[in-house]
Amino acid sequence: MTILVPEVRHLADREAVSRAAADELQRLAAAAIAVRGRFRLALAGGSTPKRLYELLAGPPWRDAIDWERLDVFFGDERAVPPDDAESNYHLAYEAMLGPVSLPPSRVHRMEAERPNLDTAALAYEATMARVFGLPAGIAEEPPRFDLVLLGLGKDGHTASLFPHTAALRETKRWCVPNWVPQQDAHRMTLTYPVLNHAREVIFLVAGEDKAEPLSEVLEGPPDPERLPSQRVRPTAGKLLFLADVAAAAMLGQH
Ligand code: 6PG
Repeated sequence: MTILVPEVRHLADREAVSRAAADELQRLAAAAIAVRGRFRLALAGGSTPKRLYELLAGPPWRDAIDWERLDVFFGDERAVPPDDAESNYHLAYEAMLGPVSLPPSRVHRMEAERPNLDTAALAYEATMARVFGLPAGIAEEPPRFDLVLLGLGKDGHTASLFPHTAALRETKRWCVPNWVPQQDAHRMTLTYPVLNHAREVIFLVAGEDKAEPLSEVLEGPPDPERLPSQRVRPTAGKLLFLADVAAAAMLGQH
């Protein structure tokens, strides 16, 4: 079995990380559209990707991307309404989806404001099955995203896969609700079966407060229950970490 070695690119700062991600996304979009006529991506939540989304909504990236051919999903969502400042959808809409006027039929947000998150997660799986042309119901083959964007939490979490939470142990479902006691909050998240089936996964990591978790995730002993980002290893895809100097400061010290 081939062990996937992640590529780690060291960049000057958060702006450079965002620009490198914009270039990579544009390249992947063109390649996917040329081969499959569609580019299917899952957006990251949190604050780090905001600058990337803003950049994509302006030149040169805005004009170079065939937005009509995109299907935009989300890696995770907080249990808040879509107009809430805490909503990952809200951030992406304000920074990019709104400014580029992406048709609503191309944007598939997680309805994590619903009272029943189990139903919301099943609905999201049904949407993925429809958009990816997969048989309804949890088939063997999860959806294969062209690109999944992820962030890295200070505790080593990614998407809403937090340390020692139930969603870490999901081996079949594509999207699940996840109770996160550390945040005293409910979340919805894509699962490892989907993340690890992607053609490319990009982690955006910036700032000195990410130096320790990044070095533990990449170079520390395997402990995916404590460091859920360690288990993101696409089985037949590429794994790329775009990290700024501050976040990469502790690499090579293990
Ligand atoms: C979320 C995210 C989460 C995020 C990390 C990093 O909804 O919070 O999906 O996984 O990527 O917490 O967040 P920052 O980029 O804000 O540091």
